[in-house]
Amino acid sequence: MESYLSSYGTINCCAIDSSGNLGGVTTTSGFFFKIPGRVGDSPIIGAGLYVDNDVGAAGSTGRGEANILNCGSFQVVNFMSRGFSPEEACLKALERIAEKSKLLPHLLNEKGLPRFGLNFYAVNKKGEYGGASMWSGRNFAVHDGKENKLRPIAYLYKRER
Ligand code: GLY
Repeated sequence: MESYLSSYGTINCCAIDSSGNLGGVTTTSGFFFKIPGRVGDSPIIGAGLYVDNDVGAAGSTGRGEANILNCGSFQVVNFMSRGFSPEEACLKALERIAEKSKLLPHLLNEKGLPRFGLNFYAVNKKGEYGGASMWSGRNFAVHDGKENKLRPIAYLYKRER
């Protein structure tokens, strides 16, 4: 029970209906980061969630502060509007965030890489979906209309351990 409680927080869910309309929701972090006065990225449209019904939907989990600084979910949808697949768009948003985090050395590990986790999930107008994580080793859940599947998520950096 303890490891379950310490492993999960924010949930994002993006969806497309049978008419091709897109939607999305991102919860607040729940268990984590209950710091008085803190506003995470979840309630900020463009950061924790962004939906453009002409293009796609995207949302995020992970370190909200890094995401807010970069309007991450908006970036993902913007990359999809330029023709990138949902997975590619998520990776490109993470690349941008990793690059910008170099301005904040306290967020970097000894190799100069982000020492925080951040994940994006996206679906486009065609119903194609994908996700990406800053670091390897994570999964994301997909329901394709027939069944639920847990899929390995793409990542920017491979964890060494
Ligand atoms: N991503 C959720 C939060 O940072 O609050």
